[in-house]
Amino acid sequence: MVCLGNICRSPLAEGLLREKVQKRGLNVEVDSCGTAAYHVGEAPDSRMILTAHSHGIDISTLMGRQFTVNDFDEFDQIFAMDSSNYHNIISLARNDADIDKVSFLLDQIKPGENMSVPDPWYGGDKGFEKVYELIDTACENIAKNL
Ligand code: 4NP
Repeated sequence: MVCLGNICRSPLAEGLLREKVQKRGLNVEVDSCGTAAYHVGEAPDSRMILTAHSHGIDISTLMGRQFTVNDFDEFDQIFAMDSSNYHNIISLARNDADIDKVSFLLDQIKPGENMSVPDPWYGGDKGFEKVYELIDTACENIAKNL
């Protein structure tokens, strides 16, 4: 799960998808990171921690890290939150196999539309709940198809 800062959208996606695969008894590794290094080593944004907590998901212990080319080798599927993240990831791809692993998270809800999860960082608290609903639905669809 990849966003820009790895403190809002992608840590939530990591927490949600991990919970959904565990519930199904699947052995799947889930992780998240950001395309930027601004928040490496930091916990998620407190507003996102609270939003997740209100739905029974604990993301408070996650720690920011930056996407690296190594992630193409470590993971089978790479989900970008928005088009900027998508293009930043693709710019590091070494071959078609790397490119094929990358998709827009919201294509899990509306395939082929390449919609972006809005970045709630700059907005008010309502934005966090809306982002929660989008990411929750997308992760449910991923887990169903694993
Ligand atoms: P995220 O949100 O990409 O969902 O983690 C952001 C967090 C921090 C910044 C931008 C987006 N920032 O510019 O520091």
